[in-house]
Amino acid sequence: MEGYFITFEGGEGSGKSSILKSVEQKLVKSGYDVLATREPGGIEIAEKIREIILNPEHTAMDPRTEALLYAAARRQHLTEKVLPALNEGKIVLCDRFVDSSLAYQGFARELGIDEVFTVNQFAIQDLMPDRTLFFDIKPNKGLARIEANNDRERNRLDLENIRFHEHVYEAYQLLVSKFPERIHVINADQSFEEVESDTVNHIVNDLKKHVKEGENS
Ligand code: TYD
Repeated sequence: MEGYFITFEGGEGSGKSSILKSVEQKLVKSGYDVLATREPGGIEIAEKIREIILNPEHTAMDPRTEALLYAAARRQHLTEKVLPALNEGKIVLCDRFVDSSLAYQGFARELGIDEVFTVNQFAIQDLMPDRTLFFDIKPNKGLARIEANNDRERNRLDLENIRFHEHVYEAYQLLVSKFPERIHVINADQSFEEVESDTVNHIVNDLKKHVKEGENS
């Protein structure tokens, strides 16, 4: 079987990163060969780029520099980690991918969704996810979750004001309507267990279809 590429997207405090970890464990227990990773980062070079981007002291960073650095980190992560895993037939669960750049840099930073997509095309060379899950929670609720969780590190983008996060949310709605076949919405404003089971059910259904398609081709 060919690999299957699933990305997790959402605003701050949507819970997607914790859900991703627990979904990984559930899929592994069910016998799937899984790679869980995150953007920006997951490997040394990309983690170093991530440190530069997210450092709260880098207030002078230009939005285009930010977009280019995310695309650079994405490229390295893709070639070093994601593509080899997909070629080995693994299911890759990736915390954030190109839609984050479209939402944060393209829309919230006002660089333009199409422009940021063009920059990213150079980095990803048409490798779009097979499935994207958008963890849907209103920004004020997501940010309240972060406030309640004192252990969580605050990065440069967490520190943006509520308007910025509302723009990010609006951008994800636009992306959901632009790519209805690829992006599936998960209601993240539920208990952890409910979000987890919605996510696992959706992924397992997808994988069953993927296996069937593989058998018929
Ligand atoms: P992280 O600590 O991983 O946050 P989260 O748990 O919300 O994923 O920080 C990643 C930050 O980088 C987050 O604020 C979103 C932002 N980001 C972009 O702006 N563009 C991108 O392309 C990516 C991948 C992330």
